[in-house]
Amino acid sequence: MAEIQLSLSVLLPILLLLYFLKLLWSRRHYPPGPLAFPIIGGLWRIAFEKGIDGMTAIKAAKQYGNVFTLWLGHFPMVFLSGFDAVKEGMVDHSEELLDRGVTPFFEKISEGKGVGFTNGHAWKQQRRLVQMALVKLGVGKRTMEDKIEDEAQQLVEIFASQQGKPFDPELFITNAVSNVTFSLMYGYRWSVEDPNFKKLIKTIEYTLSFGLISISYILYELFPSLMDRLPGPHKKALETSQMLLSLSKEEIRKHREQESTQEPRDFIDYYLREMEKEKNKNDPTSTVDEENLMHSILDIYFAGLENITTVMKWALLILANRPDVQDKIIKEIEDVVGSSNICYDDHKRLPYTHAVIHEIQRYRYPMLVGIARQATRDVHMRGYIIPKGTYIAHNLRSVLLDDEYWETPHKFNPNHFLDKDGNFVARKEFLGFGTGPRSCLGENVARMELFIFLTRLLRVFHFQPPPGVKEFTEEPARGASLPPHPYKVCAIPRNS
Ligand code: HEM
Repeated sequence: MAEIQLSLSVLLPILLLLYFLKLLWSRRHYPPGPLAFPIIGGLWRIAFEKGIDGMTAIKAAKQYGNVFTLWLGHFPMVFLSGFDAVKEGMVDHSEELLDRGVTPFFEKISEGKGVGFTNGHAWKQQRRLVQMALVKLGVGKRTMEDKIEDEAQQLVEIFASQQGKPFDPELFITNAVSNVTFSLMYGYRWSVEDPNFKKLIKTIEYTLSFGLISISYILYELFPSLMDRLPGPHKKALETSQMLLSLSKEEIRKHREQESTQEPRDFIDYYLREMEKEKNKNDPTSTVDEENLMHSILDIYFAGLENITTVMKWALLILANRPDVQDKIIKEIEDVVGSSNICYDDHKRLPYTHAVIHEIQRYRYPMLVGIARQATRDVHMRGYIIPKGTYIAHNLRSVLLDDEYWETPHKFNPNHFLDKDGNFVARKEFLGFGTGPRSCLGENVARMELFIFLTRLLRVFHFQPPPGVKEFTEEPARGASLPPHPYKVCAIPRNS
């Protein structure tokens, strides 16, 4: 026994030293970054900073350069930072960096299906289907807008029922955003009181708080086989996706039973028809099947929900802190639209309002960095060779805060999107939805939702902090989407 202990105490340090030397040797291929140690890689740097926040990767870029490597345990991730480097990656190297970086956790959730975490033929086929369905179901046309307007109206009624008293808007916003996706995918909406909705939201919140920055998540990414055998929060997080998949399975069954011969009512109808057409082609490489349908719904739901909900929560908080901005929006709406209904197309006539909505997304971006990609071959960039297979993080937050391009990057300033005559200016540096063939599929839906929800609410209410609170903090809370700290706001009816 003593001999075994002795051999272990000698062998283990030798093995760790060899592993460390191997890491040092491997690092020579990659752009610079924090020194990588066995097991933890370069994550010690994050521990140094007491956790991850929106500035962690930006500060690291200041130290190591706009192309740097962070070893996440034993796998390297190359971060591109600032507009120039990100554009170079996304546009100049769009072919080589087209693939999604599917880490073990996302591999487990996606099971190699759907649109967000697939690559190659499967991804192309699913992406084309989702794009066509969104066009068919009226993104950019009135039908989609009608659904968003219905939800905006529900929000107005719920906010009015608070009678100007302080309330937390989070659940109501989540309900409205969820319902836009539900009506698009399943053809129906859920009441905020529905116990199934509440259960669903609780589990999703749990998964999102687990994702990306918790210790349990990092351990899963590093040791997936081991973690699969152990109990812990990762198990519950994985169950959430199973819950949503079962929900979709049930909806697909119902849609099959009530097959309609008219125009597709929703995404499931549309996809089922495409499945029929595909069956007749007898193509063995086809990925148009029920499993992919279920996973594409899951991807769309997750991709949209957290981002739009977070932007909306920031929007109410930022506007409550700035009564002058609210007044300017209302004046613009009154001058241009009068008392008529506002539709999405009116954003072209409301440059100040449009600029404020862009600035909210720039100033408080709802993603930590973006969604990772993976190099499909060696990429030559800025004197470095990024080897095939490396994970790449385009740090979109760093683009939106790049001090070489934005006049006041850390200050809320709608003038970033206005020229001297007050016309809206589309900035090429506004890359919050990514760019190129793998960019956000829901950009138009998101733009429409934010514009309609916010203009509808602002026309009816003036938002302000509760009595006794001078101003809300604009410091983000920790979390994958860097949301605001929980807050209660007063929605004071304008006609009161
Ligand atoms: C403010 C709201 C949103 C933001 C900031 C946002 C941002 C992003 C970003 C940065 C990506 C990765 C792009 C890349 O790799 O270059 C992405 C992908 C994606 N987004 Fe969004 N998104 C938003 C809303 C939505 C909505 C509402 C939907 C659905 C209707 C959606 C569906 C997707 C999908 C399916 C992908 C994966 C695309 C692919 O891999 O081909 N997103 N989004």
